[in-house]
Amino acid sequence: MNTRKLGRTGIEVSEIGYGAWGIGGSEWLGAQDDESLTALRRAIELGLTFIDTALAYGRGHSEELVGQVVREQDHHIVVATKVPPKNRQWPAPGGLDPDDVFPGEWVRSCTERSLANLGLDVIDVQQLHVWSDEWVGRGTWLEAVQALKDEGLIRAFGVSINDHQPANALRLIETGVVDTVQVIYNVFDQSPEDELLAACQAHDVGVIVRVPFDEGALTGAIGPDTEFPEKDFRSEYFRGDRRAQVDEHVRALLEDLGIERSELPEVALRYVLSHPAVSTVIPGMRSVRNAERNVAVGDGRGLPAETIEKLRAHRWDRNFYE
Ligand SMILES: NC(=O)c1ccc[n+]([C@@H]2O[C@H](COP(=O)([O-])OP(=O)(O)OC[C@H]3O[C@@H](n4cnc5c(N)ncnc54)[C@H](OP(=O)(O)O)[C@@H]3O)[C@@H](O)[C@H]2O)c1
Repeated sequence: MNTRKLGRTGIEVSEIGYGAWGIGGSEWLGAQDDESLTALRRAIELGLTFIDTALAYGRGHSEELVGQVVREQDHHIVVATKVPPKNRQWPAPGGLDPDDVFPGEWVRSCTERSLANLGLDVIDVQQLHVWSDEWVGRGTWLEAVQALKDEGLIRAFGVSINDHQPANALRLIETGVVDTVQVIYNVFDQSPEDELLAACQAHDVGVIVRVPFDEGALTGAIGPDTEFPEKDFRSEYFRGDRRAQVDEHVRALLEDLGIERSELPEVALRYVLSHPAVSTVIPGMRSVRNAERNVAVGDGRGLPAETIEKLRAHRWDRNFYE
């Protein structure tokens, strides 16, 4: 497994990391703990050294599973988690007072809860689970972050940028207080290439790429008739005619590249890893099969320039907030 620097943190991470939202079991339905633990262990056995979880995933359950596996290892696995917004609003709308979303005492108490769930003494990367650049220089969150660093409870500090708003962290990056950002970046949502990725390179900020498969669309598994259980978050994400649109875009992509549907997940991961600003990409992968297939892509080989050029034409800017 190839590794990369996580910005200026001094932390080295595997190119393929583990996205641990799905194993929490609350928003993605159907996760089985036994299967999740086996998949996570297998990914680590094959060289994966970075896991992204959050206090909100299954109300701590994802952190508990991650902690269980990480504590079994004889070598260090880098763990990133997140402080949920106190107002429980994802993504963060504009116009909020940062002390209503991330008051300092909330940042601290959530960090303490995450440490207990994980069963660890230190969190490698603590992230705010939403972000708005309006909060730069305001509120008590930064003071709390600095105190947690000084006390050795967290090593690095990051933010998870609001879905599909990559420019909404540029001011923060310029302040130099953030060590990592987490962002949606994939063949369809190429918007981080506009400004964010260059800003991260200029300021040596680590880039954790989430949702590389567009929640499953870029695995080729979503068709016009795909159904999800009512309470599964994907029934909302792929609502109405969105599944038919996905099907159309995926077919065009396969035809243009001349590849089989089964080859799409590998191309999707390689596209993200071909950008030098990216530190690690964190697919959700609850099955051993998917963990094995994804970890195998972390071999340091990007895509040929002509393939990247072709993929650029498949950028798909959508309004996710309508
Ligand atoms: N606001 C935030 O901070 C935020 C929001 C969303 C996500 N995230 C993070 O980003 C991670 C990744 O995003 P995500 O899990 O939402 O979506 P994703 O990685 O885009 O897609 C995950 C889906 O792809 C499937 N899959 C994985 N590898 C595959 C392969 N090789 N072939 C076919 N199917 C494959 C998974 O199946 P199985 O799981 O069934 O194996 C799952 O259904 C999350 O787990 C979380 O850590 C953060």
